[in-house]
Amino acid sequence: MTHVLEELEQRREAARLGGGQHRIDAQHAKGKLTARERLDVLLDDGSFEEYDMFVQHRCTDFGMEDKQFAGDGVVTGWGTINGRPVFVFAKDFTVFGGSLSETHARKITKIQDMALKNRTPIIGLFDAGGARIQEGVAALAGYGEVFQRNVLASGVIPQISVIMGPCAGGDVYSPAMTDFIYMVRDTSYMFVTGPEVVKTVTNETVTSEELGGASIHTTKSSVADGAFDNDVDALLQVRRLVDFLPSSNTADLPELAVIDDPSRIENSLDTLIPDSANKPYDVKELIRKTVDDGDFFEVQESHAANIVVGFGRIEGRTVGVVANQPMVLAGVLDSDASRKAARFVRFCDCFNIPLVTFVDVPGFLPGTAQEYGGLIKHGAKLLFAYAEATVPKITIITRKAYGGAYDVMASKHLRGDVNYAWPSAQIAVMGARGAVEIIFRKDIKDADKIAEHTKNYEDRFLSPFVAAERGYIDDVIMPHSTRRRVSKALKMLRNKKLENPWKKHDNIPL
Ligand code: HXC
Repeated sequence: MTHVLEELEQRREAARLGGGQHRIDAQHAKGKLTARERLDVLLDDGSFEEYDMFVQHRCTDFGMEDKQFAGDGVVTGWGTINGRPVFVFAKDFTVFGGSLSETHARKITKIQDMALKNRTPIIGLFDAGGARIQEGVAALAGYGEVFQRNVLASGVIPQISVIMGPCAGGDVYSPAMTDFIYMVRDTSYMFVTGPEVVKTVTNETVTSEELGGASIHTTKSSVADGAFDNDVDALLQVRRLVDFLPSSNTADLPELAVIDDPSRIENSLDTLIPDSANKPYDVKELIRKTVDDGDFFEVQESHAANIVVGFGRIEGRTVGVVANQPMVLAGVLDSDASRKAARFVRFCDCFNIPLVTFVDVPGFLPGTAQEYGGLIKHGAKLLFAYAEATVPKITIITRKAYGGAYDVMASKHLRGDVNYAWPSAQIAVMGARGAVEIIFRKDIKDADKIAEHTKNYEDRFLSPFVAAERGYIDDVIMPHSTRRRVSKALKMLRNKKLENPWKKHDNIPL
């Protein structure tokens, strides 16, 4: 008996060493943790239960039969994050560069199947060189099996990807179909084809960082939802994200014990809006003063900063916050902002996370760049997302709600449940100046008359009361009572039941 116990221990020890100590040292020298070290940070202490530690590849080409490493380049299993189960897989770069073989793929799909069957979130840690080149089509088939499961799990369980090294070729598309992608600055990059292929095909000379580093994907491409300075920080932030998310589309929202009073009054909000309508203010101040303990987990912070999206809690329960940001482009809606917010709204709706929307929007951004870039279609995404969402929707107009953007931003007409406005709200087709110049074109040269018309327009329309008189706004509220009013509304909406007509799926303008 003793020798089989010893053999197990030896086999485990060998598997834990992955591709060997020299490759582990090389990994550390690059400032990266190993797959197992990463799981140690991500999961609660001692909670990791490993699957398939002894799996080996079956390739016999290119002398591969002599190169065997237990685990085959990916560590899989499950553990807990603050007590809640999650399934995990972590690519082990020390074994064939974390590349995906047939058996490596099977390990991942086993975990995907378990996660879906048990309605449990799944987190993938990527650090890999794509398809196992020696395996050819067997590796491609493996990717296909992973992708198919990503799609079936989408909207059922949260799927999170963290890119912690190279992520190229076949490895990029699985993360792309998950709900959130995080990257590590300077050590991770993602692209479909690398710099050498780019050079051959388009004659462009770029580095890996320029082609697909964290700064590109969090700003320009918006492929990634955020980036962190190192492995540990990234994994700790993912733990924080998981705490906000329900385990599945049928699970209850997580509820944290909080001491922050839901009726807390924030007098400073009464002076948040500047006297001049053209002066900006930071909507994140409003968000932080509304949610529990000022704890706001922002998503896509560096992309389309004219709209802010992220998670907070009210009375310990998660809410999705969407807010126009007057500090950036006056909070205008452009294509990028619309796509960013639409995806976030849809995520929240999938997982029954109520939406709190703060509105201060001067409209959609005019111009050829936007129109040629498909603003109509991209703006429609946000409109579509809000209109189809059946979760509780609470909207607070703080200042401008002009034109089509008024409709889009979770208005009453898109089934907003509770629509409030601050006394400073201006709900109108457009700003006073533009309106007067159109309606009173004949007086355009008479400055006094224009000033008088403008004043009249402002008095009549640039307030919340015209909308409130029609019931489009349920109440005009004091800014200092925003948290209290939102908390009460959320409580009232806890049992909300609303179903869209049956359909196979909708046809959102992609
Ligand atoms: C097999 C691989 C591998 C791969 C790396 N290795 N990539 N083995 N298949 N795809 C091995 C190396 O041989 C090496 O083994 C070890 O991993 C570490 O690799 P290095 O090159 O030494 O590391 P580094 O210099 O850090 O470079 C990492 C890398 C580079 C940038 C990822 O290895 C690389 O470019 N790999 C190939 C990437 C690629 O073209 N993949 C195929 C994509 S096509 P030893 O034994 O020396 O430690 C694809 C199609 C799928 O994925 C499409 C599905 C839709």
